Amino acid sequence: MVNAITLGKSDISVYPIGLGTNAVGGHNIYPNMLDEEQGKDVVRKALDNGINMLDTAFIYGPERSEELIGEVIKEYKREDIVLATKGAHKFAGNDIVLDNSPAFLKKAVDDSLKRLQTDYIDLFYIHFPDKDTPKDEAVGALKELKDQGKIRSIGVSNFTIDQLKEANKDGYVDVLQAEYNLLKRDAETEFLPYTEKENITFIPYFPLESGLLAGKYDVNSTFSDLRADNPNFKGDKFKENLAKVDKLRDIADKYGEEIVHIVLAWYFTRPSVDVIIPGAKRPEQVLHNKRAAEITLSDTDVQQISDIFA
Ligand SMILES: NC(=O)c1ccc[n+]([C@@H]2O[C@H](COP(=O)([O-])OP(=O)(O)OC[C@H]3O[C@@H](n4cnc5c(N)ncnc54)[C@H](OP(=O)(O)O)[C@@H]3O)[C@@H](O)[C@H]2O)c1
Repeated sequence: MVNAITLGKSDISVYPIGLGTNAVGGHNIYPNMLDEEQGKDVVRKALDNGINMLDTAFIYGPERSEELIGEVIKEYKREDIVLATKGAHKFAGNDIVLDNSPAFLKKAVDDSLKRLQTDYIDLFYIHFPDKDTPKDEAVGALKELKDQGKIRSIGVSNFTIDQLKEANKDGYVDVLQAEYNLLKRDAETEFLPYTEKENITFIPYFPLESGLLAGKYDVNSTFSDLRADNPNFKGDKFKENLAKVDKLRDIADKYGEEIVHIVLAWYFTRPSVDVIIPGAKRPEQVLHNKRAAEITLSDTDVQQISDIFA
């Protein structure tokens, strides 16, 4: 039996494994993933099987991920779903710029509500910091939206620790979402001591390093999407990473699980990492990932995994 967790200081209860949906309608991120019906089935598979948190953003598509999720959630009871989305990107002619100003964030929330066809968002994140807006002012705007009932909790993403501290000056931040996985562990020293102390839920993105930590690639795997530019997928570094992932096989076998489950389960041993949102491109990946919340790793294995990726 997996216990639900509470997001930050909010009263929102979530299953600890959510669904990352940047491949659902995220045609700008995964140009090969054009099948929108398959994307909607990924979301349905999650909601039909007890995963209640969906993580989307304006920029996935752009707009299309939110629109597709809006279509799917109409098939379910709204109160059974924890809907998280993000905003900060703004079109400026042909460019996309970042804006955290109170006026822009208020408009971004209203626009997301329309695309999601709902009257509240459970968790709204400032997706990326802009250069100019003081972060406590930006979060202050979200607090007003919370008081109005348009959003239920406040998140920030891709902030530095100083920006996070400024954003959380009045204690309003519930969730920090930042890149963190076994191959990129800066967050352990940079953020986790602060998020733990401040009762902020830390949600890692790219928990599987875009699939590399799922244990299914080999030296012959090739990539034509965002992974083609990621140094972890190139040359000797890619081979080194594959060798590390391969060392997890014995540990996974001991639990009768697959590497992907062991990797995801490991994150829950980190302070304040209460929810993870692995992405999925096919419905079966969703079910597969859900299992990870049921696995408890021994202290020895937790340490051994940490040592492999030190
Ligand atoms: N805040 C931000 O700036 C930010 C940035 C990036 C992502 N995110 C969020 O974080 C979520 C997670 O990131 P992500 O989806 O990009 O990367 P990820 O979770 O590290 O990797 C997901 C990929 O791993 C593979 N995979 C997933 N489950 C698997 C399984 N059971 N077995 C084998 N392979 C599996 C799939 O790719 P293949 O099938 O192609 O191998 C899937 O698309 C996103 O969906 C998004 O919601 C947020």
